[in-house]
Amino acid sequence: MKHNQIASANPIIEIRNLFYRFPDGSLGLRDVNLTIDQGTLVVIAGENGSGKTTLLKHLNALLRPTHGTIFVEGEDTVKNPLKTRQKVGLVFQNPDHQIVGETVFDDVAFGPKNLMLDPDTVKERVDAALRIVSLSHQTDRQPHLLSGGEKRRLAIAGVLAMKPRVLALDEPFSSLDYAGIREVLRQILDLHRLGCTVVVTTHDVEKIIAHADRLVVLKNGSVAADGPPERIALELERFGVRIPCAIRMGKGFESWLN
Ligand SMILES: Nc1ncnc2c1ncn2[C@@H]1O[C@H](COP(=O)(O)OP(=O)(O)OP(=O)(O)O)[C@@H](O)[C@H]1O
Ligand SMILES: [Mg+2]
Repeated sequence: MKHNQIASANPIIEIRNLFYRFPDGSLGLRDVNLTIDQGTLVVIAGENGSGKTTLLKHLNALLRPTHGTIFVEGEDTVKNPLKTRQKVGLVFQNPDHQIVGETVFDDVAFGPKNLMLDPDTVKERVDAALRIVSLSHQTDRQPHLLSGGEKRRLAIAGVLAMKPRVLALDEPFSSLDYAGIREVLRQILDLHRLGCTVVVTTHDVEKIIAHADRLVVLKNGSVAADGPPERIALELERFGVRIPCAIRMGKGFESWLN
């Protein structure tokens, strides 16, 4: 076992020796090894350009490893990309990139329709997902007219309607105000409580660290640190990430929901 891996009891995602080279020849990920346990909430931190988005895109087979393997529930993502996408829902860094429907309802229905589910099941799933993110009253609105926080919640609903086992969120708090951050954080924690494994990337760990089981830090496409948040948080500044204020002041982590 590599030094940066944590012993795993019940893995849902296993990343082994992952390297990714972009089409222009530059290396985006270098020998990433991570095993993520079912039901955990993992925060992946790192400065701009450290490889967070590139790594997340591998979790649901949007990118194919140049070298190495990713297993989701024991299955190779490259061999089963469609199945992988049903298991791992990815909420993009920019919610505008995720809008695919003319209305809020159609937007959330897009994924389940692609699964060839019958119309009644699609409606059930869309209604349930919109209820969870508190957008049920906005079904006929145009997604582009929603606020930033609402768009982010819409993107989460679109992923939820696929009933994923893993929810991967790329910078879910960026460009949100205090109320928006708390709303999205509450949704994430509710889904985690319901049994979803959650992987969240951020360069600003303060907003979610109080709820994390584990903190992984990326630097130049490699895992630079990995372990319990209380320990790893103290090292963050070495890797270009801000240490949460409460930790800097010698206090414990504070939830943004308090
Ligand atoms: N298509 C591409 N071709 C070449 N290099 C790329 C490409 N996409 C991203 N990169 C580079 O790969 C590195 C990692 O990018 P990535 O988007 O994964 O970082 P990130 O940690 O998500 O950053 P941010 O915090 O800004 O979202 C960066 O240096 C970026 O410039
Ligand atoms: Mg990114």
